[in-house]
Amino acid sequence: MLGNFTYCNPTKLYFGKDALDSLNEELPKYGKNVLLVYGGGSIKKNGIYDKVVGILKANGKNIFEDGGVMPNPSSDKLEEGIARAKAAKADLILAVGGGSVCDYAKAVSVSVNCCEDPWEKYFIKFDDVDCDIIPVGCILTMVGTGSEMNGGSVITNHKQKLKIGHVFGENVFPKFSILNPEFTFTLPKYQMVSGIYDIMSHILEQYFSGEDDNTSDYIMEGLLRSLIHSANIAIENPLDYEARSNIMWIATWALNTLVEKGKSTDWMVHMLGQAVAAHTDATHGMTLAAVSLPYYRHILPYGLKKFARYAVNVWNIEPSGKSDTQIAQQGLDAMQAWMNKIGLVMNISKLGVSGDMIDAIVKSTLIMDGGYKTLTTDEITSILKNSL
Ligand code: NZQ
Ligand code: ZN
Repeated sequence: MLGNFTYCNPTKLYFGKDALDSLNEELPKYGKNVLLVYGGGSIKKNGIYDKVVGILKANGKNIFEDGGVMPNPSSDKLEEGIARAKAAKADLILAVGGGSVCDYAKAVSVSVNCCEDPWEKYFIKFDDVDCDIIPVGCILTMVGTGSEMNGGSVITNHKQKLKIGHVFGENVFPKFSILNPEFTFTLPKYQMVSGIYDIMSHILEQYFSGEDDNTSDYIMEGLLRSLIHSANIAIENPLDYEARSNIMWIATWALNTLVEKGKSTDWMVHMLGQAVAAHTDATHGMTLAAVSLPYYRHILPYGLKKFARYAVNVWNIEPSGKSDTQIAQQGLDAMQAWMNKIGLVMNISKLGVSGDMIDAIVKSTLIMDGGYKTLTTDEITSILKNSL
């Protein structure tokens, strides 16, 4: 570990089949007015909405609703949420849903008392929060983003064709998050698989950076092995509680800021995926899956030793008698075969991208410099073409 860092994670997690009972412990800490934020209605169909509303009522809360948060929440919806939170004089924002709902709740929380246009301030200028924040609590129903225990909030501006994430500080992390793996059982397979790849991508974005001997890399290899093992079980039997609970816990640890410590981190797969989503509104994990292999095959020579280590320690490639390049390529081949097997989308054309959109997607791509190669726009064009 060669970096200097501070580590603090203030989110209190309640995990397991009885986790929702703990909402009774948390609610008395906040005022009467609760803004209940949720998505397109899955929580009404699977009964989670009724359970949560029952607990809110039993605790004497005034419930104000803000439903209809869409996957890839938009800047227009954010404006609506700010107005609802103001009208409710919300003391707590309770997000019940996946990463989109949790991200949106955080964006509303930092925007209600903000004097400027929040899109410009937080997502274009990346300014810090300098106003009062409404506390956020999360009840997670979709696994993948890690939003339940981090300061990330990703918002899409459809007019500007930009999808941008702001990683806020500890003061914006959820105050508490409730994780019951059974709440994820009703997820369609497409979403489950997409979430599994989102987790893998979060780990790889942090793993593929740096050359020092870093404990975080060993932790990440363990998380990846556990993820692959549990994903294989969950895909065969989505109701396997043990596998689904492991996947839920790995998702949290993949992006709750622990394993990034001492790492420069890459995040270029996410920048490419977010640019694709800005033009297609496609499902987050699938956008990452569709660009990953062309990206990793492109940067492999620049991070060769790490790609070879990944192949051996995560994909069990036998190294003896092979060059680092052969080992690394076999690792990516194994990853690609597994991604195909679990049903990930492997081409951006399947997400609605055509060749004539590539130039515009390149323009929407933010370039990061923490990985093994800082891309030029020509390289981004070539990776996107190889992803078609
Ligand atoms: O809207 P409803 O009806 O609830 O349906 C949702 C939605 O259609 C459905 N769903 C969720 N839980 C369900 C369920 N359906 C049945 N049963 C359940 N239990 O799943 C669909 C997708 O939900 P969404 O919240 O959009 O998925 P996800 O958790 O993948 O979140 C994606 C968003 O998070 C951002 C992404 O960019 C994207 O905008 N990210 C946030 C990050 C962070 N905060 O750190 C990091 C990630 O890299 C990511 O960028
Ligand atoms: Zn992600």
